[in-house]
Amino acid sequence: MIKKIGVLTSGGDAPGMNAAVRAVVRSAIQKGIEVVGIYRGYNGLINGDIRPLEITSVSDIIQRGGTVLYTARCLEFKEKPGILKAKQTCIENGIEGIVVIGGDGSFRGAADLSAEGIPCIGLPGTIDNDIAMTEYTIGYDTAMNTAMELIDKLIDTACSHDRCSVVEVMGRRAGYIALNTGIACGATAIITTEMPYDLNDVAEKIKQSRKAGKNHFIIVVSEGIGNSQKIAEEIQEHVHIDCRATILGHVQRGGAPTLRDRVEASRMGYYAVELLSKGIGNRVVGLQHGDVIDVDIQEALKMTKEFPKDLYKIANEIAI
Ligand code: ADP
Ligand code: F6P
Repeated sequence: MIKKIGVLTSGGDAPGMNAAVRAVVRSAIQKGIEVVGIYRGYNGLINGDIRPLEITSVSDIIQRGGTVLYTARCLEFKEKPGILKAKQTCIENGIEGIVVIGGDGSFRGAADLSAEGIPCIGLPGTIDNDIAMTEYTIGYDTAMNTAMELIDKLIDTACSHDRCSVVEVMGRRAGYIALNTGIACGATAIITTEMPYDLNDVAEKIKQSRKAGKNHFIIVVSEGIGNSQKIAEEIQEHVHIDCRATILGHVQRGGAPTLRDRVEASRMGYYAVELLSKGIGNRVVGLQHGDVIDVDIQEALKMTKEFPKDLYKIANEIAI
């Protein structure tokens, strides 16, 4: 039976990471397994920045955004010597398994460390929802709700001034946040990398909507497209409407996690400890059809995710 595990958060932070850390710590201790927190992602393994976590160390964190373990992007861990240093730290500290909460990049590191004999379990923690093996990533729901609230505020001011508001949301190369917030806020157009678009068509749609009596417009642009300022200028030129561009930025990464993020993070954290306690490593935990599942890390990294084209079609048809 495994005696001691570690938990770390890596890559961009995401609301709900704390709920996952709490679930890992509490469920491991219930099973008689000691837990250590590894600080600032893989840096903590390289520098030995490791502290024991008790049942009460994770009190009052489920409702907090960010990550109490801090996070980082650790370049040294991408090279073999870094991984060997991390392995040595695990051996010296008696760490027999690690739960890594992060995105695809973090899972690559987890696979490398698993291959060195330290079983790792990945938990999908990113606001982008861009991990193919799971339909849901920790932080996605909170980020979308935050973006939705902010876009609602932009609607108020766009409406008062008869303006068009071009809003850029995060997601790295993925358009899931853009698609869902675009539907939720009645965007006239949603522009993402996954779907072809033509600004002439967007301009034409705005003109038609104007004829129907609409005086303000929201265009949601995914970060992968970028250039939201230029898109706003082009729309202004085509349609002769006052346009403003807003990049929502990192505010989407912060804030108290939603109920869904807290619950799913708790379920996945618990499941990760179940796997490690059975001596299973090199897996990523995720959700499929609402069930918690696990997949081999290499397999998970090879998988691709379909963009929900039917949802995109609905969004386009019902928004004017
Ligand atoms: P995310 O996990 O959110 O995708 P990154 O891509 O920045 O974020 O990866 C987080 C960290 O995971 C990196 O800083 C690095 O320490 C580790 N990592 C990323 N890619 C690799 C890789 N190919 N091999 C080993 N470790 C990696
Ligand atoms: O992966 C989460 C994310 O917020 C992306 O949506 C965005 O592209 C990126 O991280 C921003 O990274 P950084 O925090 O390094 O600016």
